[in-house]
Amino acid sequence: MIREVLRMGDPRLLARSEPVDDFDSPRLAALLADMQDTMDHLDGAGLAAPQIGVALRVVIFGFGANPRYPEAEPVPLTVLINPEFLSFSDEQEEDWEGCLSVPGLRGRVPRWKRLHYAGYDFTGQRFEREVEGFHARVVQHECDHLDGILYPMRMTDMRSFGFQDVLPVTSRRNLSE
Ligand code: NI
Repeated sequence: MIREVLRMGDPRLLARSEPVDDFDSPRLAALLADMQDTMDHLDGAGLAAPQIGVALRVVIFGFGANPRYPEAEPVPLTVLINPEFLSFSDEQEEDWEGCLSVPGLRGRVPRWKRLHYAGYDFTGQRFEREVEGFHARVVQHECDHLDGILYPMRMTDMRSFGFQDVLPVTSRRNLSE
């Protein structure tokens, strides 16, 4: 079922979410189905449970060839539950991001370039990945939602924050959502 996505200003987006403790359950299956339907409907690259008003540590992300992100490398479709960051690179890089909870806007956000993360799938199976670039950016963006952090709160230069249809064309590439 397609759910309403909360927008910035809603206090539920600023809350810290709780870990999942009922893997492989009907409740979790229903949540994931709703998240996938909502993300697909909005053509997003990722979605966190708090964005549909569910304060659980669940994110989904991934896409193949998405016309909205022509420059971005594909990221495997992933369900990531109770994520942990095991290590970061010591370098950060800035790139443009958007967010379904901050519709119409884009901003440049510094993120760790490389990331080693772990978490659990729907069945409770643990997995780990070492990633970089856009994949690393998407994971950092989505996991921030679980701690009540929206991307504008990570920005260091508000001059690179604006409406997507006003920003120069080169600013619209390589987005996370
Ligand atoms: Ni977002």
